Amino acid sequence: MCGIIGYAGEREAAPILLGGLRRLEYRGYDSAGLVVARDGKLCITKAAGYISNLSEAVHGGADLPGTVGLGHTRWATHGKPNETNAHPHISDGGKIAVVHNGTIENYTRLRDFLVSKGYEFFTQTDTEVAVNLIAYFYAESGDVLHAVASAARRMEGQYALGIICEDAPDTIIATKRDAPLFIAVGERENFIVSDVTAVLEHTRTIIRLRDYEIAVLTKDGVTLVTSELDEFTRETETVGWDVSSAEKGGFEHFMIKEITEQPDCVRAALSPRLRDGGIYLDGLGISDEYLRSVERIYITACGTASYVGLVAKYVVEKLARVPTEVVYASEFRYSDPIITDRTLVITLSQSGTTADTIAALREAKRRGAKVLSIVNVVGSVIAEESDWTLYTYAGPEICVASTKAYSTQLALSYVVALKLAQVRGTIEPERFSELLRVLATLPDAIAATLPLREQIQYLASRYASRDNMFFIGRNVDYALAVEGSHKLKEVSYIHSEAFAAGELKHGTIALIEDGTPVVTVAAYSPLLDKTLSNAAEVKSRGARVLAVTTESLREKVESNRDAVDDCIAIPDFEELFLPSLAIIPLQMFAYYCALERGTEIDKPRNLAKSVTVE
Ligand code: AGP
Repeated sequence: MCGIIGYAGEREAAPILLGGLRRLEYRGYDSAGLVVARDGKLCITKAAGYISNLSEAVHGGADLPGTVGLGHTRWATHGKPNETNAHPHISDGGKIAVVHNGTIENYTRLRDFLVSKGYEFFTQTDTEVAVNLIAYFYAESGDVLHAVASAARRMEGQYALGIICEDAPDTIIATKRDAPLFIAVGERENFIVSDVTAVLEHTRTIIRLRDYEIAVLTKDGVTLVTSELDEFTRETETVGWDVSSAEKGGFEHFMIKEITEQPDCVRAALSPRLRDGGIYLDGLGISDEYLRSVERIYITACGTASYVGLVAKYVVEKLARVPTEVVYASEFRYSDPIITDRTLVITLSQSGTTADTIAALREAKRRGAKVLSIVNVVGSVIAEESDWTLYTYAGPEICVASTKAYSTQLALSYVVALKLAQVRGTIEPERFSELLRVLATLPDAIAATLPLREQIQYLASRYASRDNMFFIGRNVDYALAVEGSHKLKEVSYIHSEAFAAGELKHGTIALIEDGTPVVTVAAYSPLLDKTLSNAAEVKSRGARVLAVTTESLREKVESNRDAVDDCIAIPDFEELFLPSLAIIPLQMFAYYCALERGTEIDKPRNLAKSVTVE
């Protein structure tokens, strides 16, 4: 996620801004920049890549003297990760500079408006639209605070903004909506930060800025106003965190932080695509005619991304009735796949740099397929080489074990499946509208599973001691079992395997011993009885069964003492999208088992965040 720091004080701003940006490096970024107000001018330096590149460019800040400035680390969402697109962005005419976190969803409409007013644009970013919109209102009113308030009222989406105006060089203005931004208060110096980690070495006194509020900072003080410019005051708070835990937002590990972030990440993935009762694949250019022509779909990826594909297969086939095959990328490329110009290949990848997935993509294209990718890292190889790319907007995923990438890829898989079904006429319009309406509530439904955390932590303490664990399920529950087993292995080092529940009696059941844990995913109601009978098979042979089911099935599952020992129940939700809820307890279970076993959760042994070799 991007990082923001602003400074207004008596010390040289640039070294303080660079130090704060370094504190934000852990959040992941691809470029960085500074703006410092000096002698009535805004002096900007930006650099692609690491902050060290930026620091070298300004000789550690010496080349940017001045006591008021803004700094930014960018995680690209709109526009490639390069120096041009790095922040700060300056308005056409050069009077106003802005740093921005988030995505302004209506930026194309706003840019068209500004172009019609004669504004020129030089980057691909939504941020340049924001700074020019502020400049437009500033030109009208001559009051930069008024201009910020006017512009903020017209922007849709998520934003945290830091603003400096050439005509008020000792002042920083800040505002936000659905993105974190804090004011930090020092001795004759004040800061804005998107993450308190960046300023803990200077001050622990903060003021939380709330959505639509605006802060005006100088070295002498902080003024807070509402979106209607009415002044108000707010108590300061003292940050108790140390830097290490602040980097994780107060969580013990990135993994549990990222599990908890999933409602917001899924919202960021879905909201630009679900509007006005329709699906907008944000300018992909994929034609309805092409989607109607598709006769076969391959989903190819690696690891967790491929297990998203296992769930997506069920949803695509159920909704769009297109034969869909999920193939590991490392297998796909050597499997002589049957591909025609009516074959759609979907690749899934968090990093966009997984070697096997890149190779599979290239092989698919070489054979004449079109490739749609669902990717998190903007401008990555997979994103650039695909015919169409849907970004998940999940922000950097720091933990090696993928959680929010899984959930956002899965959410976008539903969107693709619904789009296919709609254009191919395999879904009734009423059902389409109903599913779209329900899908828009998915973030809140996922959030409703998070309180299961305590129960899952307790259960993990009772299961984590075993060195072998099995996961079983049927249909889409089997696909979930595969990812649940994968997550457990990655972070707890417990040997684990997932099996189609109906397969157990054909061999694997020989491995069941007294006390062998078997996690039974039993959320798919049409096959519940079958799944419970498979659970009873293993329980009768000594297994300890932990079931994951839904609230409405809880009574039936929990009361079946021949099949189940422990039960986790997720809230009820549309069956098609239930995997997005059922995966949460499986992720948490893996996390808490690892916590019990004291493993290196965020950076498990032998694993890399992106496997860039074959
Ligand atoms: C996920 O928990 C793992 N780190 C791994 O399986 C990962 O999903 C796989 O390597 C694919 O990575 P990608 O999504 O970046 O392509």
